Amino acid sequence: MSLLLAPRLALWRSCSVLSDCCSLRVSSSASVVRHSHSSIVRPFNEIPGLWKNSVGNLYNFWKQDGFKNLHRIMVHNFNTFGPIYREKIGYYESVNIIKPEDAAILFKAEGHYPKRLNVEPWTAYRDYRNRKYGVLLKSGEDWRSNRVILNKEVISPKIQENFVPLLEEVGQDFVVRVHKKINRSGQNKWTTDLSQELFKYALESVSSVLYGERLGLMLDYIDPEVQHFIDCITLMFKTTSPMLYIPPELLRKLGSKVWRDHVEAWDGIFNQADRCIQKIYKELRVLASLLLLDKLSIEDIKASVTELMAGGVDTTSITLLWTLYELARHPNLQEELRAEVVKARETSQGNMQEMLKHIPLVKGALKETLRLHPVAVSLQRYVAEDIIIQNYHIPAGTLVQLGLYAMGRDPKVFLRPEQYLPTRWLRTETQYFRSLGFGFGPRQCLGRRIAETEMQIFLIHMLENFKVEKQRHIEAKSVFELILVPDQPIILTLKPLQNSQLV
Ligand code: HEM
Repeated sequence: MSLLLAPRLALWRSCSVLSDCCSLRVSSSASVVRHSHSSIVRPFNEIPGLWKNSVGNLYNFWKQDGFKNLHRIMVHNFNTFGPIYREKIGYYESVNIIKPEDAAILFKAEGHYPKRLNVEPWTAYRDYRNRKYGVLLKSGEDWRSNRVILNKEVISPKIQENFVPLLEEVGQDFVVRVHKKINRSGQNKWTTDLSQELFKYALESVSSVLYGERLGLMLDYIDPEVQHFIDCITLMFKTTSPMLYIPPELLRKLGSKVWRDHVEAWDGIFNQADRCIQKIYKELRVLASLLLLDKLSIEDIKASVTELMAGGVDTTSITLLWTLYELARHPNLQEELRAEVVKARETSQGNMQEMLKHIPLVKGALKETLRLHPVAVSLQRYVAEDIIIQNYHIPAGTLVQLGLYAMGRDPKVFLRPEQYLPTRWLRTETQYFRSLGFGFGPRQCLGRRIAETEMQIFLIHMLENFKVEKQRHIEAKSVFELILVPDQPIILTLKPLQNSQLV
């Protein structure tokens, strides 16, 4: 249903707040309104789901190990209730949707200052330590004014050209590192859980782009301070999800371990960012440009750059890990991608910027990875106006979540969803509101262009140099740790190709 056809719900009689949901700003849900197609719009309170017993739901959620299985529980709920359901777990209440057409309605109603679900433990840490929020956590005009400036330095198409040589250098160093490991193994192959390696690749890349600083993570010796930073990011994500449904304030007062670990993790992340910031003034990279621009306060810059560092490592490294896993499972597809890369290098005579324009299948593979293994379980917005979805009235202020993981695996949305088919993104199937791995609109992922370029360059180098294979029996699934991560180590084998060269 098009939003344009939907009646403006200002006609709705404003009434009292619903008894079950004290945190929402709502208008009437009791009356029934005629819709433009003369179908009856059904009230908010009739949305099916589990929202009447928030404490009981929290208990059941805990019993089902929901903290780890949030994505699978969402799939189950869509199967039970249909394409829209309402839920209340502890103090979180949301309406959950799955259809691309409904995502379109949601994003049209996000307003000038799109607002996501707040990650309470992260804001609690900043409040506790009296640190500023960065762009990830800011809201309202403060978010918008910072985001507009950051967009110019981080996500504008023009700026991508600056990233390419930096990221290419890191990609080449990764190839050299893998060759070394292969030589040392004495078996002409390297079998390992690549997650730590990819994590280092991602951190080296994002640090190079943001600070103009190489951390030396492609070397054997790793600076203990940098290793500490890596450990802190992992700890920060791990300690976030258990605190999502219990007020962090309470955990702080109780002196719980999870809160103490969380504080320690963020302290480490901010300290590393502070160290980088102190070294930076001479270099012409994102951070330096922001400083030179002089439009944001140094504290605002620090807060956002720290968030970019923290958000820019696990996300890309895990997406790359899943992509290598899928390519290892599909050797023929891997050859097709390799052929595309070889041809692209010929066509562009080795110019990486140009090469990136000739790898549609590689780009399709990354979209396909994010469809089946999205980093975010859902995209969320508090709707800025009343809307109608699936013929239900949803009042302004409601938190609406688009189930990204569930949508990616829904046979009504994707043909043969269980199959990894990068070609589906080459315009053979409709793409309308289906490729949402980085979110949508003005609040979409700020690091999107860095991430895409970094991942494409990585895959180009890997495909040109190594064959990726996997152990026969692994069937990895996702587990929720604020972002979705593999539930077990993914062991892969890298074998040098005949024409692979040490760079
Ligand atoms: C595969 C890699 C990545 C994926 C799938 C991803 C995904 C996302 C998603 C889904 C959002 C929420 C968007 C929305 O609500 O519409 C987001 C926000 C964000 N991401 Fe990423 N991300 C990735 C990499 C990165 C990188 C490399 C950086 C930093 C260099 C980064 C920085 C951010 C920031 C700062 C935000 C918040 C933006 C705002 O609130 O204005 N992300 N990302």
